[in-house]
Amino acid sequence: MSQNMPHGGKLVNRASLDSMEDFSLSLPTVELDYAELSDLELIANGGYSPLEGFMGKADYDSVVQNMRLANGLPWSLPITLAVDHEKATELNIGETINLVHKGKIYGVMDVQEKFLPDKRVEAEMVYRTMDMDHAGVSKLFGRSDVYVAGPITLVKRPKKSKFASYYLDPHETREMFKTLGWSTIVGFQTRNPVHRAHEYIQKAALEIVDGLFLNPLVGETKSDDIPSDIRMKSYQALLKNYYPQDRVFLSVFPAAMRYAGPREAIFHAIVRKNFGCTHFIVGRDHAGVGDYYGTYDAQKIFDNFTEDELGIKPLFFEHSFYCNKCENMASSKTCPHDSEDHVILSGTKVREMLKNGEQPPKEFSRPEVVEILIQGMKETDTSN
Ligand code: ADX
Repeated sequence: MSQNMPHGGKLVNRASLDSMEDFSLSLPTVELDYAELSDLELIANGGYSPLEGFMGKADYDSVVQNMRLANGLPWSLPITLAVDHEKATELNIGETINLVHKGKIYGVMDVQEKFLPDKRVEAEMVYRTMDMDHAGVSKLFGRSDVYVAGPITLVKRPKKSKFASYYLDPHETREMFKTLGWSTIVGFQTRNPVHRAHEYIQKAALEIVDGLFLNPLVGETKSDDIPSDIRMKSYQALLKNYYPQDRVFLSVFPAAMRYAGPREAIFHAIVRKNFGCTHFIVGRDHAGVGDYYGTYDAQKIFDNFTEDELGIKPLFFEHSFYCNKCENMASSKTCPHDSEDHVILSGTKVREMLKNGEQPPKEFSRPEVVEILIQGMKETDTSN
């Protein structure tokens, strides 16, 4: 079956972790920020197959304009490495450089290109806005101005949090799905605690596939998102209490959040295909922020691609909620009642409640999850 193939046909492996001594400390260095470091790792472990390095101009332009790599393969977000003008003039085409984060060498890159992006075009095309209040846009304009590109090799793995055993490479998740005997696997992206609406759509999907791959994003997020180590505890508690143990698998996605809504939904789907998923859930306002995107824009964008060329089947879900009259989880597809009967809380409202030690209702979030979140927020507050 071609569906479960990595994007572009083969899983990229650009890690060479035992070869540190081969790399010269005297090479020119480029400092990666935290998000670029996570991109480095995901290129190297095949999460971003078929990418083998940071994008050159042909791929970058084509991705920005057409959501495809220069060879026509679907790809929706630029994966780039930014340096300032001074650093760019020090780097020569054809030379090998060290990729460094906080004084440690994590990788090397063969510099093939240096180019100036038009960030206004990138913002308009990728984020659909140039508003600096948009977290992704302000990050884009805050980066240095020159992109350097070329194939990379990872020589050291970034250090993991206390949830180290939940970091699996795509070849490992693929192996795991095989061991579990799953041939259809639905991927679920989240940057939030899993609330009842998430649980509802995951379980609806579980009715038609063999297994659920709960794959929370734990890379860089904006500062008011709930920290990943608190979320991880809440996922463990939720799975333990409410999911059939042999039909779910939890492992993390170390990428940074871009908040690019529709474009990021395509990216999220392709990457989960590389991790071995055959299906991917896209609900309401996937990867959105504020009200920059329409509720279902991240679903509509899939019309630009055939299912064959994406190689992963998106499963679309309507905005879901608990309905007091139905006494059940539902969506506008299944519930005839008015919105006043629906338990709907905004993310901001929930974060505010948790910070104040207030419990969101059990119709919104499982008590075991709420307890962990409140405790976690308290500890974060006192450690700041
Ligand atoms: S995201 O930025 O990672 O997409 P979030 O963690 O909120 O944010 O969402 C995870 C997935 O659940 C996304 O596919 C999103 O569209 C979906 N989703 C979140 N809340 C709802 C809801 N109430 N109804 C339907 N889908 C939802």
